[in-house]
Amino acid sequence: MSSSVSQRLKGKTILITGASSGIGKATALEFARTSPEDLKLILTARRIDTLKEIAAEIEGFAKGVKVLPVKLDVSNPKEVAGLVDGLPAEFKEVDVLVNNAGLVKGVAQAPSIAAEDIDVMFATNVTGLINVTQAILPIFKNRPDGGRGDIINIGSIAGREPYQGGSIYCATKAAVRSFTDALRRELIASRIRVIEIDPGQVETEFSVVRFYGDKDKAKKVYEGVEPLTPDDIAEVVVFTAGRRENVVIADTLIFPNHQAAATVMHRKTQ
Ligand SMILES: NC(=O)c1ccc[n+]([C@@H]2O[C@H](COP(=O)([O-])OP(=O)(O)OC[C@H]3O[C@@H](n4cnc5c(N)ncnc54)[C@H](OP(=O)(O)O)[C@@H]3O)[C@@H](O)[C@H]2O)c1
Repeated sequence: MSSSVSQRLKGKTILITGASSGIGKATALEFARTSPEDLKLILTARRIDTLKEIAAEIEGFAKGVKVLPVKLDVSNPKEVAGLVDGLPAEFKEVDVLVNNAGLVKGVAQAPSIAAEDIDVMFATNVTGLINVTQAILPIFKNRPDGGRGDIINIGSIAGREPYQGGSIYCATKAAVRSFTDALRRELIASRIRVIEIDPGQVETEFSVVRFYGDKDKAKKVYEGVEPLTPDDIAEVVVFTAGRRENVVIADTLIFPNHQAAATVMHRKTQ
């Protein structure tokens, strides 16, 4: 990443949800690599021990980066409501919010979708993302010119293109898309940038979670294809945050080379 990007990110405080794995973890590392001299990272997720390990890794190579691991379940409105009050003073002035925490559960189709899967997907991907945004937005709006800061929402190709066996996940990501677009319009009189990044297929723990921990089933998803890596998406996140303030990369869709739509993949056979 160019030095102008590291200059623009210098001194910023960045809060990432779902930073314990996959895209969120890669994003934390990429921000630290891009601006190693002077940055504050607030890493949140439910697995606090994993966050602490990531914090130690970052502080090992980026001496100017201060990392605060915070245990946060975004699907718990009470925890989210206490998030900002619980931050130490030096981490309170958040500049960039990366709403990344999210998950998919199962491949069931209506009318056989488990009620708890429906609830956890909406509570995490939709209500969680909205609640975290509402918790952080007052910090942004308090700044001059109607407000300043970046909200970077991780959507999905699934939010643009529903597929069988993904109806609830697709609905949650479509909701993220609508919320993001409405927010950008609502904040038009400010300097707050509202950014959506929609990945196609990325190999993370995502499919392991979808198949309730069954790693063999998860592996099959990537057979014969070369998925994106979490770093591929992290680079785009940092790119959007590192633009000149007047530039808003409002919307991106990122596929690996073999993918042309949610269900259009070219698989190599042996
Ligand atoms: N992988 C893909 O193909 C793909 C494609 C398009 C979009 N996405 C989106 O990318 C985002 C990141 O997913 P990923 O692929 O990186 O999957 P991942 O490796 O499973 O990571 C998901 C992250 O979300 C966190 N999370 C889950 N539920 C949470 C909760 N209730 N509260 C707080 N954090 C929670 C997890 O942390 P804890 O378990 O520690 O809480 C983890 O850090 C998601 O929004 C996903 O929908 C993924």
